[in-house]
Amino acid sequence: FLKRHGQYAWSDISVFESIDSTSTWVKSQSESQVVCLAEHQTAGRGRHGHQWQSPNAENIYLSLSWQFDGQPEHLSLLSLWVGVIVAEALADAGLSGHGIKWPNDIYWQQQKMGGILLETSNLASMIVIGIGLNVNMQHDNSIDQPWVSLNQAMGQAVDRNHILLGLLDKLHAGLSAFASMSVSELKQQWQKWDLIRDRKVSFLDRENKLVGDALGVDDSGQLQVRLESGEMKSFGTTISKVRW
Ligand code: BTN
Repeated sequence: FLKRHGQYAWSDISVFESIDSTSTWVKSQSESQVVCLAEHQTAGRGRHGHQWQSPNAENIYLSLSWQFDGQPEHLSLLSLWVGVIVAEALADAGLSGHGIKWPNDIYWQQQKMGGILLETSNLASMIVIGIGLNVNMQHDNSIDQPWVSLNQAMGQAVDRNHILLGLLDKLHAGLSAFASMSVSELKQQWQKWDLIRDRKVSFLDRENKLVGDALGVDDSGQLQVRLESGEMKSFGTTISKVRW
């Protein structure tokens, strides 16, 4: 990563060649608004205890801490909101055709381009946001799901620093704005990127495979589904393997 001189929204940015996990590192810091980047992670973490393969491939592995004074039940809305911020940063960079698979996976043509992991830190009311984005990855045989990188989707080489700086600016503005956003505004913004709304979906709910129609998110950020039985139900982030 190049260092840009001048005004940054974030003043505390640490860049590592290699690290276990940028999110683990940020969690170990005592301040908020700490940013960590790495070229490569040896123990990158994903949601549901999965690994996040993090080769040295001109990708973005980014974590940052943020003071969160809202209600705990608003955390899942925040995790949706971070997805919107990333999707918008990618659109600003010229990408089209991408969207969000609930809750916050970035997809392009049914292939995963990025993932977001929100964790609470040991410090009261601090959250750690981790973002992994495939930017210039050419191949990786160890990823066990369809994936794509930004350069492939754009059909050209991508300036990673440009993407990163746009993303960091948007994150700062977007996270600052979150506290004063209404739930309906947030839902409206999120809906623009929702890839699975009105789609038939299948997913795992504690080992049970369920099928239904995705209807969007409810006021607490849960996924609303009309199950095959006709029953309407909301699901939280304990469900996994959402397919559409
Ligand atoms: C997911 O889709 O499961 C979320 C993946 C999040 C990966 C990022 S990469 C930077 C940060 N550090 C980690 O260990 N994980 C997140």
